[in-house]
Amino acid sequence: MTKFDQRYANDAFFYGTAPNTFLVDAAVHLPPGSALLSLGEGEGRNAVYLASRGHRVHAIDESAVGLAKAERFAAASGVSITTECADLAHVTLADGAWDAIVSIWCHVDSTLRRRLHQEAVRALRPGGVFILEAYTPAQIGRGTGGPSDPDLMPTVAQLNDELAGLEIVRAQELERLVEEGQGHRGHSAVVQWIGRRPSGVR
Ligand SMILES: C[S@@+](CC[C@H](N)C(=O)[O-])C[C@H]1O[C@@H](n2cnc3c(N)ncnc32)[C@H](O)[C@@H]1O
Repeated sequence: MTKFDQRYANDAFFYGTAPNTFLVDAAVHLPPGSALLSLGEGEGRNAVYLASRGHRVHAIDESAVGLAKAERFAAASGVSITTECADLAHVTLADGAWDAIVSIWCHVDSTLRRRLHQEAVRALRPGGVFILEAYTPAQIGRGTGGPSDPDLMPTVAQLNDELAGLEIVRAQELERLVEEGQGHRGHSAVVQWIGRRPSGVR
């Protein structure tokens, strides 16, 4: 059982059922009817939102408890998603497979993150979009959410480097109020990153 399995093992949704608000704003950049991969999807709030907008969502997470909840939530919401229970350390993203890749609070160690992001650049089709929100190291000690190890928390400079090959649509570190279930509550130091694979690249 993972730490997240334990967090998700009751009827409440640890991060709520409403989608991440940055993702809602960023969703205007998604090509209609995207084949969309969600990394570290958890209990399904973002996948259900994206599916309800007409995207075909495949959700990966290592929490079987979270994904089972995500599938129940999708069915109750009248949408369909596919799920894959896997540790991202053992997942390879196929080249050119996705119109969009979404990573919301998917905090993995910096070695895995760099490999994953470099694969994500190639896994996007031309014109495909990458959307990420994460806590930055400046979040440490605030007690409002996020990991306690700065290695899991990217800066905008690191993301610009890891995701080189995408055209940057938006890349910023900021402080914002995050209110998501019991898991994320309060003023938080975050990075928001949106990029697009250039259309001419094959
Ligand atoms: C903070 S939660 C965020 C969940 C969801 N994205 C949301 O915004 O509600 C992070 C999620 O990433 C998943 N995760 C962390 N490390 C992972 C890994 N190496 N492989 C797969 N999933 C991972 C956890 O199981 C957890 O569900």
